[in-house]
This record gives sequence, structure tokens and C-alpha cells, in this order.
Amino acid sequence: MRIKELQQVYGEEQIQTRVAELAAEISALYDGEELVVVCVLKGAFMFFSDLIRRLEGPQVEADFVRLASYGRSASSSRTVSFVKDVELSLAGKHVLVVEDIVDTGYTMDFLLRQFAARGVKSLRLAVMVDKQARREVPVNADFTGFALPGGFVVGYGLDYAERYRELPAIFEVIPEY
Ligand code: PRP
Repeated sequence: MRIKELQQVYGEEQIQTRVAELAAEISALYDGEELVVVCVLKGAFMFFSDLIRRLEGPQVEADFVRLASYGRSASSSRTVSFVKDVELSLAGKHVLVVEDIVDTGYTMDFLLRQFAARGVKSLRLAVMVDKQARREVPVNADFTGFALPGGFVVGYGLDYAERYRELPAIFEVIPEY
């Protein structure tokens, strides 16, 4: 795909305001509790770092996973596996998964099932961009930054062929036809 232009969808200030709102909600919910916050690499790194630095209330432990998926879309032919698992034990812990985007849902369906099987005290999902209309398997976020109706977006951790992750805002990719 040749890119014609990037059109801003969510600006830097808008994102930071939304992250602060989510952080306040999360802080209140887990006030005084120990909380393992899990960043799903690579895309979530920017949302994760902005979010956890604003948490006040929970005692935060940070950890990271990296997942790989094989086979595109076509129902149930998609396989997800760990490239890197968390290093902390999740048993008996409150766990918050932080993800940049949920699209078909295969990635989060896999991760949430894996974590649920580890005897967690609670398990919730925070996602920056939720593309509900694209879901092939049901996944519901507990905390959502923005509900995106459509379009391919980059920036704020999200890439196109590994580019644009560093941008502080989120842009829709407009292809050249
Ligand atoms: C993206 C994104 C989610 C997943 C969402 O990751 O970060 O993890 O795809 O898609 P799904 O809902 O259809 O499963 P990607 O595999 O591009 O890796 P990255 O985070 O390293 O960019």
C-alpha cells in the first residue's frame, strides 16, 4: 500500500485528556490494592507508559507480554501464541491488561483466556482504540479510550509496517488509489 496522507483522528491533547480520565477511573477502582498492569507489546507501549504514570491508589507492578498471530481473519483459523510471557505470577492478583487496539478480538481472546486460567483475583482490559465493528470473537473492554468506527490507524504506538509508532497522536492512513 502506498500512503497518500495521514489524517489526524485523535489529537495529542485529546488522547492525554482521555488517558487521565481512564487513569482516574482505574485508580478509584483499585484504590489501596496491588495491581499487575500488563503491557501488550509492541503497540501498547505508549498508552501503557502514559497510563501507569498517572495511576494513584493501586500499588502497581508492571509486566510485559508479546504475542504472535498466524493466519489472517478467516474464522477460527487464527492462532495466537506467546513470544514473551509475563515474568510475574498472576495467581491471586488483580490484573489489568493494557492494549493499544482490539480489532477482530483474536489476540485479546487468547490472552484473557490464558490469564483467567492462572487463578487471578480479577482480570480487566483497558484498550486505547476499540474497533467493535471488526470483531470476529467477542471481547469486551472494561476501559476504552476511543471507539473507532472504521479505518486503519497509526501513531501512539500503532504501526504500519513498523512505522509511525512514535507519533504522539492517532492518524488514519489514507492510501493512494
Ligand atoms: C495488533 C494490536 C493487537 C492486535 C489486535 O498487534 O496491537 O495486539 O493486533 O488485533 P486482533 O484484535 O485482530 O487480534 P500486532 O500483531 O500488529 O503487533 P504489535 O502490537 O507489535 O504492532
